[in-house]
Amino acid sequence: MSLDTIQDLFEHGLEDIYHAEHQLLDALEELERNTERDEISQAFSDHREETQGQIDWLEAVFDEFGEPPEKEECEGIEGLLEEYEEFASMEPSQAVMDYHNMAAAEKTEHYEIAAYGNLIPLADQLGMDKAADLLEENLREEQEALEELIELTEEFEMDAIPAE
Ligand SMILES: [Fe+2]
Repeated sequence: MSLDTIQDLFEHGLEDIYHAEHQLLDALEELERNTERDEISQAFSDHREETQGQIDWLEAVFDEFGEPPEKEECEGIEGLLEEYEEFASMEPSQAVMDYHNMAAAEKTEHYEIAAYGNLIPLADQLGMDKAADLLEENLREEQEALEELIELTEEFEMDAIPAE
């Protein structure tokens, strides 16, 4: 595949985030399962539902682009998830796990926000108005999910974790 045109750049980015969203669908389920605090696990469950909708919108974007939905291995999200698995395998206390789960999810939101933010001007340039709107919608949901996680982090009962 050549990588010289706006179309190439767009296709590459779209396939990358399409793969990322699928990985996150599984990861959010695991985060929900591994979190004890209700309001935090609820945030993961809500965002998992949104992620399914985001995958549907991405398929509509592929449709407007005129290509079948394909995944390009998203090593960025894969790396974040590997890092997460490694931490979880060290058997942290539940409170530490709950806090770390938010941090891990926030990192993936930053990745997604950057990915969508960069795809939108390309869709605009290609005259794909509907696609640009759908990508804009996904971007907005990621930003809201990040804000919610930041709030939950700020509200976290730190006393549950010993300082040393
Ligand atoms: Fe997402």
